Amino acid sequence: MVSQLKPSTRLLLGPGPSNVSYRVLRAMCTPLVGHLDPQFLEIMDETCQMVRDVYQTSNQMTFPVSGTGSAGMEASFVNILEPGDKVIIGVNGVFGMRMKDVAARCGAQVIEVEAEWGQPLDVQQLIETCQANPDAKACAVVFAETSTGVRQPLEELGAHLKNTEILFLVDAVTALGAIDLQVDNWGIDICYACTQKGLSVPPGLSPVTFSPKAMNVVNNRKSKVQSWYLDLSMLGKYWGEERVYHHTAPISMIYALNEGLRVIFEEGLAKRFERHAAASRSLAAGLGKLGFSFFAAEGYRLPQLMAVYLPDGVAEGNLRNTLLTKYDIEVGGGLGPVAGKIWRIGLLGENARSQAVAALLYALNQELAA
Ligand SMILES: Cc1ncc(COP(=O)(O)O)c(C=O)c1O
Repeated sequence: MVSQLKPSTRLLLGPGPSNVSYRVLRAMCTPLVGHLDPQFLEIMDETCQMVRDVYQTSNQMTFPVSGTGSAGMEASFVNILEPGDKVIIGVNGVFGMRMKDVAARCGAQVIEVEAEWGQPLDVQQLIETCQANPDAKACAVVFAETSTGVRQPLEELGAHLKNTEILFLVDAVTALGAIDLQVDNWGIDICYACTQKGLSVPPGLSPVTFSPKAMNVVNNRKSKVQSWYLDLSMLGKYWGEERVYHHTAPISMIYALNEGLRVIFEEGLAKRFERHAAASRSLAAGLGKLGFSFFAAEGYRLPQLMAVYLPDGVAEGNLRNTLLTKYDIEVGGGLGPVAGKIWRIGLLGENARSQAVAALLYALNQELAA
């Protein structure tokens, strides 16, 4: 057993968590108040407004769910789906598969639209599937598929769904705070994310937003939401004006999110997205010179999460382990069918900087030369 809690200081360049600024860590050490203390209620309101701003939405039902990104995913599906409902889900990686599993557990009939791993979903095929199933409750896609590094185009599908009864449900777990995401302009009805990636806040909350169109579906359910903990009708009474106790809010995490969002707005969204793009361009150039090649289709690569094949003959597990133990740099391995075949390198939030890129390229240069 370790005698002290003394983890190494790592540079976290995997798919998340990303490194957290000292300001956010400091916010977590500030004194607790009660979860119904008037001061905390103000902090909640302020945090929700900043979550709206980062999602670029005016949706009233916008708040951080207690739990990681998966809690946001569950909250999104369980609140709209009832047994027998149809839902269209795009699957081109692990997280599309997970959405399918979550929806099926709600008793929904899942209509799957598939694409090869590394490719985006065909928007036309999604639209045609929605046209063929106008009674579907939702059409769900992953904006930033973390298992493949693919960015899914959203705008055309959102514009189509705006004129239908079908809700547009988007997983933005690896997107929020790293690339532009315009919930209102793009016609997104339900969106969930996490704190530990583009927002650079520790894992533990899942910011979610529900449009009035989505809330109309939630408010007109025939049956109770399967999950007591994630039932929006009760959560809304705590986060909204009524302030009715539901569960004890994770106070310190909300402090952390509040401070993390302040850091973001001090920088400005546009600058932050450009910082991610610039860091990504320099990492891609450096990796190309070292013999790495890209897994995701050209034109659909995420700047904040790069999926790459290693140079021929390099054992990915050994090199990944050397980076961790000798250089204190974490990168991610592949998931599912691409486990052992690719790396996933994250430049998320605090880590989308030239210093992080330089540190990784230096270590790779040293080790590949050796
Ligand atoms: C796209 C996507 N969706 C959902 C999740 C689940 O989030 P969490 O691990 O925070 O529960 C992840 C996690 O990496 C993800 O990348």
